[in-house]
Amino acid sequence: MAMQNILPINPQLMDTMVRAEDAEWIPQPLDPEKAFIKVLYTGAESGRWAVHFRWLKGFVAPPHKHLSASHTFILKGKLQVRDGTLNTGDYIYEPNGMIHGATTALEDTEYLFICDGPVLFFDDKGFNAYLGWEELRRLQAGHAAAKSRRAPAKKAAAKAVAAKAVAAPAKAKAKTKAPARKSKVAG
Ligand SMILES: [Fe+2]
Repeated sequence: MAMQNILPINPQLMDTMVRAEDAEWIPQPLDPEKAFIKVLYTGAESGRWAVHFRWLKGFVAPPHKHLSASHTFILKGKLQVRDGTLNTGDYIYEPNGMIHGATTALEDTEYLFICDGPVLFFDDKGFNAYLGWEELRRLQAGHAAAKSRRAPAKKAAAKAVAAKAVAAPAKAKAKTKAPARKSKVAG
């Protein structure tokens, strides 16, 4: 039997690799002081996304409904979920359609989250936010824009510090030279 042709029809197919170590933590609007995210993957057509969450102790994620299935793997820390806790090394699968109550970080926690679509948050009054691939891209774009806005100010501050460092020895030199001139005049 002839070997089946398994070559991809699209020669431009590529893997997507993210060096998460080099990526910046992006604060989550829910609580920018305690919740951070690194975006690993967003699929514009499938709606699938993969992220690395970092929630500091005390962060509470609001109740939510899953509009798709998700996979969670706890890299470190401890999360209080509904009737139990998730600890380092635990995995949880959440099916499409599930409604979950608040989730609390009992310790500084990091986890890998792979989701097939949006998650919808709600409170007593109704739905108030969602998280999906579009929102993640907006978060990334907003973070990058804020960083580039801060860059000129940071550069100017560094320049001022450098100028001060150059000026300081010159000033000190002038100070040490002063008495010599004085004695010359006196003599
Ligand atoms: Fe959930």
